[in-house]
Parts: sequence; structure tokens; C-alpha cells
Amino acid sequence: MTAIRAATADDAATLLTMMRELGDYQNQGGEVKVSLGRLAELLARPEVGYLIAEREGRAIGYVSWVERVSLWTGQEYLALDDLYVRAGERGEGVGEQLMRTLAEKAAGRVIRWEVAEANVPAQRFYRRIGATVFSKKICRWHVA
Ligand SMILES: CC(C)(COP(=O)(O)OP(=O)(O)OC[C@H]1O[C@@H](n2cnc3c(N)ncnc32)[C@H](O)[C@@H]1OP(=O)(O)O)[C@@H](O)C(=O)NCCC(=O)NCCS
Repeated sequence: MTAIRAATADDAATLLTMMRELGDYQNQGGEVKVSLGRLAELLARPEVGYLIAEREGRAIGYVSWVERVSLWTGQEYLALDDLYVRAGERGEGVGEQLMRTLAEKAAGRVIRWEVAEANVPAQRFYRRIGATVFSKKICRWHVA
């Protein structure tokens, strides 16, 4: 049986390992640069959320988000950061369970996130659970 619970700062090491696995899956392994100490700090912030999925005490996936506000609507929303289920545990409903538990936490607030154009299986999964998926360019500007 899969259990879903809110993560705490004590889960930082487990979460960092899974975040690196997701980075590798997306060929962005080098982008997960947060230190263990910094992640533990972030986990303690009220606007940061992580749900962890466990089976027989072993972590098998997670979903993470940050609470934000839309200045157009004036409404709070959840900016989903990562959704990840470990290889070997996929296709058994864990991803949907994580998303449904997140939706309960959202309590009517919209959930928004990004998915890579190339990640077609994940897009199919998001559509199947009822999300709207549309394309928009992402801009980043890092002025040295
Ligand atoms: C996308 C993901 C979170 C779905 O979790 P899951 O537990 O496999 O999902 P469920 O069992 O609830 O649903 C299975 C669906 O996920 C799809 N899926 C997406 N990627 C998959 C993968 N790598 N392996 C197996 N199934 C996958 C299945 O095709 C299935 O969709 P379908 O029913 O439309 O065919 C999970 O497959 C995963 O972690 N993939 C790799 C990381 C990733 O792409 N994360 C999303 C980044 S935006």
C-alpha cells in the first residue's frame, strides 16, 4: 500500500536524492544544485510544500510546490515544481495519488506547472487526470 504524507526537514536527504534522479531523467542532472542544508531550510518555509509517497517505509516518489499569488486574478495558486515517481514504481497510480492529494491541499486554488515539450508520456498523464496542457515559451534572464 502506498502512503502519502507531508515531508519535513528530516526528509531533505531522501528528497534531494529523488530530485537528482528526476534531474537525470530530464537530462538536467547538473541543475539540481541546492545543498542539503539549504533544502532543509526551504522545507521549513510555510510557502514551500512537499508530499512524499512511501511503500513499506521506502520513499517511491514526491510532488513539490510553492504557494504564489497571481497579480492578474488576485488569487493564490500553487506553482507545482516537481512530480516524480521512481522507475520501477511507475504505472501503478502513485503519480495520480500524489496529484490528487495535492489537489486536496490546493482546496480550490489553481495548480500550475511546466512540462518539457519532449516529455510526451508526462503530458499524456496530465491530460488523463484532467489538466489542461498548452505551450508557451519560458524566458530566463541572468544578468551577471
Ligand atoms: C509522470 C509520472 C509522475 C506519472 O506517475 P505514475 O505513478 O507512473 O502515474 P500513474 O501510474 O498514476 O499513471 C500512469 C501514467 O503515467 C504515464 N507515464 C508517464 N511517464 C511514465 C514512465 N516513465 N513510465 C511509466 N508510465 C509513465 C503512463 O503512460 C500512464 O499514462 P496513461 O495512463 O495515460 O498511459 C511518472 O511516470 C514519472 O515520475 N515519470 C518520470 C518523471 C517525470 O516525467 N515527471 C514529470 C515531470 S513534469
